[in-house]
This record gives sequence, structure tokens and C-alpha cells, in this order.
Amino acid sequence: MFTNQHHLRHLLRPEHYTSEEQYRAELRHLFRPAWHPVATTGDLARDGDFVALDLLDTPFLIRNFGGELRAFLNVCPHRHSRLTDRPRGNTEKLRCRYHGWEFNADGRTGKIPDARIFRPWDRENACLRRFRVDTCGELVFVHFGDTGVPLREWLAPVWDVWAEGYGGDYRHAATWERDFPCNWKVVLENSLESYHIPEVHPQTFKEFPPEENAWHELTDRFSSFKTVPPDEFATRVERWLSRRLGVEPVNEYWHRVLHPHATGSLMPSFRMMQCVFPTGPRTCRYRCIFFTLRGRRRNPVAWVLYRLLRAVATYVGKKVFAEDASIYAGVQRGLEASPHPGVIGTREERIYQFQKYVLDGCRGAAELPVLPDPAPVPACNGTAPT
Ligand code: FES
Ligand SMILES: [Fe+2]
Repeated sequence: MFTNQHHLRHLLRPEHYTSEEQYRAELRHLFRPAWHPVATTGDLARDGDFVALDLLDTPFLIRNFGGELRAFLNVCPHRHSRLTDRPRGNTEKLRCRYHGWEFNADGRTGKIPDARIFRPWDRENACLRRFRVDTCGELVFVHFGDTGVPLREWLAPVWDVWAEGYGGDYRHAATWERDFPCNWKVVLENSLESYHIPEVHPQTFKEFPPEENAWHELTDRFSSFKTVPPDEFATRVERWLSRRLGVEPVNEYWHRVLHPHATGSLMPSFRMMQCVFPTGPRTCRYRCIFFTLRGRRRNPVAWVLYRLLRAVATYVGKKVFAEDASIYAGVQRGLEASPHPGVIGTREERIYQFQKYVLDGCRGAAELPVLPDPAPVPACNGTAPT
């Protein structure tokens, strides 16, 4: 059932997908206050495991310190090198790759080679910048600010389903990431509608569901879509597999986008957490964290079925991702030459809700004063962020 009965105005103009000013406003007002899903607890399971990546022009690093996750700006206070260029790994100490300064869990320096050359010691300027990090289920989130709501509050509308959905009976299978030559909203808006299915996914999803089998929920914080998959061969196999793994399948597909960018897809046999990050006015990076059903049975047959399911589901997940990826550049090129205002159909009404959120959140980019981005969290002085 769609909420609206008449087509809707395309609230964003093509310039909203190309302008530097809009991009800066979105970073500041939509992305800086947000929590970002970036990894899984499995990526950081052992003492010394770390993950490093760039997000919103910011290099950061999350590391397991004796079972506790900590996130830092991946920049050394000595002479500004990245601490590491490796995307992941395990090290006994958090040590800068350039001159070997070591850092503790609170970001303070540990061992410094030939430390006496730095006398007198400037304690306040020798600490790593710390960010907030927290988990929901097995998903690891980071936040760049030192103020703002805790993760649980940020995720409140979806906390229960995501805490249970990413973990428990489901196990992390793969993470993949790709850069696209389009504004981040092109990717996000594509994920918010089922209208493109017959053209873009003719082999995988095939048809969009009829209106009576499509439920939308539209709010300022998020929108969701639910459908019951058709009773066809693939669905029956999925249900059978699920039961063989000891889990009674819920025959529903849920897609939820928590604004601005955290996108959770829940199917009986797999789960995705997809997130698109702007990397410029006309570019973005899309990251997908993929889970498949592991179930509760621990016998050789269940293990083989799980491995089979994981291989097939990952293949299908990547294929759907590639199908969507094939249209983004063309949409961006069209936006840059378009004389049209655009129009949104009722099947696409979640896009209208999202565009309204963007405009309200940025409060009219044209009127915004140009302000520098807020500084990252201070670590050494003041209260350490939690
Ligand atoms: S730049 Fe990191 S130890 Fe020198
Ligand atoms: Fe799609």
C-alpha cells in the first residue's frame, strides 16, 4: 500500500546533485551528526586487530585493545603521517609506521624512540584524536563528533531489528566497497524504490511487487519497505534451507533506510548493511557489509548447507549490486544536462520523504554561511569521549 495517491514533486533540483556548496552543507548537517556503520565485530575480534579507512575526507582507524574497541584519527601527532596505510591487520602495538611512536588505548603516547630529543615534552599535543565507536549487533559504528546522541538513541527506530538481524543466527560473509562517479543521493534514491526492478534487475528480482504487496512507512528519521516474496522455487528453497539450519523462516523482505545513509536489507537467508558516503559533489563510495544465515545446527550437513548458502547468496548479492552500479554514471550525466524538474511516482514516495529530509536538514544550502567543518574529538585534554 502506498501512502500517497498522486504523484509527488521532485523536490531536489539537478544542482543539488552537483554543487560544491550543497555537498559541504550535507557533510556538515547530515553526515557529521550521524553514526556510520563501517565494520563488524568479527573484523576486530582479536586483541590488536585493526581496520583503517577513509570516511568523509577523514582517515580513521578502529582497533581492539584487549577486547575494547577504540577509534582514532589515523594521523600521527609527531609529523602527521598516517599511522598505517594498511586497510586491516593485527599488530602487537599501535605504532606509527614512520618513526615508530607507540600509542595506548586512550591515545596517549607509549614508547617513543630516542624520546629525549623531544624535551621538554608537550603532553597535550602528543595524543591521537579520538572518535566515538560503538556496536549494534555485530555492526561497528563510528561517530566523528564529541557531542551528539549515543548510538542506541541514533538507531532507536531500528535498534531492535538491527541488533538481532546482524548477528545471532547470521554470520558476516563479506564486505565490499566501490567508488562511483555520481552524487551519493543518486545511489541512495535508487535503493529507495522498486520501480527500476524490471529494467535493471530482469534476471535477479524480475518484477516489482504489486501495490497490495508493498508496504511503505515514511517518517522524518527513516523510511521502510516491506514485501512478501512470491511463492516460487527460489523462495521455497530458501525456506527449506532455513529450516535445515534450525531457523523458522520469516517470509518477508524488509528494506529500511535510516537517514541519511544507513540502509538495512533483511531477507530470510541474508542481510545487508549498505552505506553510501559522499566523497565529492559528483562522487561517492558505496560499502556493503553482507551477512548470511548460519542457523543453530552444528552438524556436518548444516555446515555444508551454510557454506553453500553463503556462496550462492554472496554471488547473488554482488550481482544485484553490479546491476544497480551499471546505471549510476548515466543518471549523474543526465542530471548534469537536465532541463526537467523531474517527477516522483507513488511507488517512489520514499524518495520524496528522503529529499524532504535533505532539504530540511540542510535548511536551504544557498543561505548557509560558509563555515569550517567542526574539529574532530579532542583526546588528551578535557573529558575523553565515550
Ligand atoms: S610521523 Fe609518526 S612517528 Fe613520526
Ligand atoms: Fe536495484
